[in-house]
Amino acid sequence: MSLVIAMDGPSGSGKSSASKGVARALGLRYLDTGAMYRAMTWWMLEHGVDVEDGEAVAARAGEAALVSGTDPNRPTIEADGTDVSGPIRTREVTNAVSAVSRVPAVRERMVALQREIIGAGGIVVEGRDIGTVVAPDAPVKVYLTASEAARAARRAKDLAADPGASVEVTQAEQARRDELDSTRKASPLAKAADAHEIDSTELSLDEVIEAVVRLAKEQY
Ligand code: C5P
Repeated sequence: MSLVIAMDGPSGSGKSSASKGVARALGLRYLDTGAMYRAMTWWMLEHGVDVEDGEAVAARAGEAALVSGTDPNRPTIEADGTDVSGPIRTREVTNAVSAVSRVPAVRERMVALQREIIGAGGIVVEGRDIGTVVAPDAPVKVYLTASEAARAARRAKDLAADPGASVEVTQAEQARRDELDSTRKASPLAKAADAHEIDSTELSLDEVIEAVVRLAKEQY
């Protein structure tokens, strides 16, 4: 398999910025699998599906046509031909996504789509189950973490976009999402046994990117 870099970790660990930076530095494609689960969630909400009803979600999991752009400078996601890159970041979608992503039928479909996009490789893939389930043979696996405080501070920056949510509320919502993602039955957030753990709490973004690029270069 040519180069696949699996980047897993909880929300707020800095995965997205680091993954895009690594893809740019190495001239690779980039896939945000979280955006795919968010787009599926957006589609369910848009079609009036009760996201807490796993059977209802499963019954419609095959309907949404999702297309992911893989340019790290301009990652996009389309659902049924509509660019939903903006709408998938709303609080409504963020708070519903864990309920949708725990449904096995949704995960099966997402994993199949993700493997198609990964294809022969040359890509940085970020998510929760990339090193464990989607690409267990990826030659480079990273598990990115950060302290609660650092993750909350990063989230506080995102808050500017949503003045309705306080830091406390956002932190509580993030903790709930991480709890659901880590304890669900179907491919929970987990560190692969052969993943390199990087704690980004004390590192700048460039330092995280450098550390991952170094790991990749050791492989080739
Ligand atoms: O990374 P992001 O915060 O955008 O992910 C949104 C949600 O999508 C996560 O909270 C999780 O429920 C789900 N997800 C997942 N598996 C992945 C990526 C994301 O279950 N590989």
